[in-house]
Amino acid sequence: MQMEFSVQGMDFNRAGEAAAQIKKALQLVGMHVDTVRRAVIVAYEAELNIVIHARQGRLAAYIHPDRVEIEAVDEGPGIPDISQAMREGYSTAPDHIRKMGFGAGMGLPNIKKSASHMQLTSEVNVGTRLTAIINNQTSGD
Ligand SMILES: Nc1ncnc2c1ncn2[C@@H]1O[C@H](COP(=O)(O)OP(=O)(O)OP(=O)(O)O)[C@@H](O)[C@H]1O
Ligand SMILES: [Mg+2]
Repeated sequence: MQMEFSVQGMDFNRAGEAAAQIKKALQLVGMHVDTVRRAVIVAYEAELNIVIHARQGRLAAYIHPDRVEIEAVDEGPGIPDISQAMREGYSTAPDHIRKMGFGAGMGLPNIKKSASHMQLTSEVNVGTRLTAIINNQTSGD
């Protein structure tokens, strides 16, 4: 199963809607609750990063029995230093964005923690691509 959403920069009215749709689908197909939780964190943070930092992009989810793949591709300023961007607390979000409650610099670190694998590539003044795989938990609770 495959889902795809377009995400518009600065569209705070719809921010989080794609992640919410992905959550519903994962619950419907009966993914493990922990897999749903982790995939939704990844999808939400990736979606919000497009809204806050990029011009426009698309968020896709590929749902397999054993894993969820989340892909976020955008056109925007790109990330000049990926390892700096991955650091907890690092954010370039301006003041008016912080006043809305974003810009703690925790999105990318949380994606890394929640995903089984993640890959982040970017080209300055072109855009950014994030892919993450969340393995489905199949045993235990
Ligand atoms: N899609 C993107 N395009 C351009 N820059 C990005 C993108 N995603 C992240 N960044 C850069 O990486 C930094 C860190 O991202 P991260 O998601 O960890 O924090 P944040 O978005 O600033 O705050 P938070 O996610 O906690 O609300 C951002 O401040 C921004 O400079
Ligand atoms: Mg973020």
